[in-house]
Amino acid sequence: EENSCAIRFDWSKTHLDAAHVAAFEELARLTDFVGRRKALFAGDIVNPTEGRAAEHTAQRGVGKDESVRQAAEYHHRMAAIVEAIHRGAMGEVKHLIHIGIGGSALGPALAVSALARDGAMVHVHVISNIDGCALEQAFAACDPTKTMLAIASKTFTTIETMTNAESAIAWLRENGVEDAYGRVVALTAAPEKAIAWGVDETRILPFSESVGGRYSLWSSIGFPVAMALGWPDFAELLEGAAAMDRHFRDTDGVANLPLRAAFADQYYTRLRGCQTRAVFAYDERLALLPDYLQQLEMESNGKRVKVDGSPVGGPTAPITWGGVGTDAQHAVFQLLHQGTHLVPVDFIASIAPGHDLAPAHHHILLSNCFAQGAALMAGKASEDPARAYPGDRPSTTILLDEVSPATFGALIAFHEHRTFANAVLMGINPFDQFGVELGKEIAKQIESGGACFDPSTEALLKLAGIS
Ligand code: F6P
Repeated sequence: EENSCAIRFDWSKTHLDAAHVAAFEELARLTDFVGRRKALFAGDIVNPTEGRAAEHTAQRGVGKDESVRQAAEYHHRMAAIVEAIHRGAMGEVKHLIHIGIGGSALGPALAVSALARDGAMVHVHVISNIDGCALEQAFAACDPTKTMLAIASKTFTTIETMTNAESAIAWLRENGVEDAYGRVVALTAAPEKAIAWGVDETRILPFSESVGGRYSLWSSIGFPVAMALGWPDFAELLEGAAAMDRHFRDTDGVANLPLRAAFADQYYTRLRGCQTRAVFAYDERLALLPDYLQQLEMESNGKRVKVDGSPVGGPTAPITWGGVGTDAQHAVFQLLHQGTHLVPVDFIASIAPGHDLAPAHHHILLSNCFAQGAALMAGKASEDPARAYPGDRPSTTILLDEVSPATFGALIAFHEHRTFANAVLMGINPFDQFGVELGKEIAKQIESGGACFDPSTEALLKLAGIS
């Protein structure tokens, strides 16, 4: 399938035939896909459990006029700050420690490693884990006098991020930076909390409450990407995503790429009972893509009830997993070829290489990528059962012309819309994530002491010296 986003899709190795497509088009009609999509782009409340719109597309200039204008205003301010820092407004900045978690970390980490490999204007270190080993490693790589901090949190309350931020401030101070808070930029939808924490108002980059955490790369959460690449490349990333937004908004039926991908997802998960879906990027630059998609898809559609509260009935989001090619071939592909699970696979690759080494590298990389899809589909008979490949195993190949800010933006936006389309077809609200709250509450109870838990948990706490 060709489109204007410099990405090609080959779905011919899936089982989806004309009859399936017609049935899924009917399902899309029954679930009011067109109406739901219109509501998404209109900035209506598509996240009713939290009473919110989901306006990530407005960040790219596609959506409700007022939200597009607001996002452009925030971007204008962000561009001015990025460019001022590049010009030396905060002295020499060699390193940026970006502290955030989940949606406030995965997008920046992926985008920086995909697009800012060499010639980055600033070295970005994305730190998410509360485990001090993560932050300590970043400290070891940075010169404190030439390091700035970006504290990225939509809510500005996340315990991991706030604890890491405190430790990073302490590190700057211990290493002779007197005005440590003067080295901080806050990326948040809760500016008043950032101010209360100590960030100067002039260095707060806000974004709208209606941008979900896992959809927030395009907002000020993308600050480290703009710092590493420069503003023009960040703008190109937004425009690449916008091209996919327009395609998704304006294309009907199976010609709509994210919807078509969702048809295949629905077929494998709900009709064929596949519990997982695998993503293999045959590109070192996209090695973090499976991690990113895991949050996007599992946090969005890992639900058991519909928007109206009734049970979905049947499986919802598959477990997204994957890795990088060709490495994964030598580690986990055995199961794909001869195991008992049926795993739909997405192969993602770039026609243009991202390096200047001998062409053999890229030829071998792409040949292997295409060979795996062919082998999974064709299989191979053998007298010896241990050497037989059953074949008939599905894959989709997604080919980018090159890995550029624009194609990368379109690729991520494609997955956002695919996730939304899957949610519509199942009647799910993909924009809340209450499932993550219970564990947080229990962790708080443990921290504050006094509460009683099950014997297993009590024993673990005792062993670790926590109670
Ligand atoms: O706990 C899950 C979650 O709320 C994600 O949805 C979110 O991306 C992440 O935590 C970080 O939240 P925040 O940006 O508010 O720190």
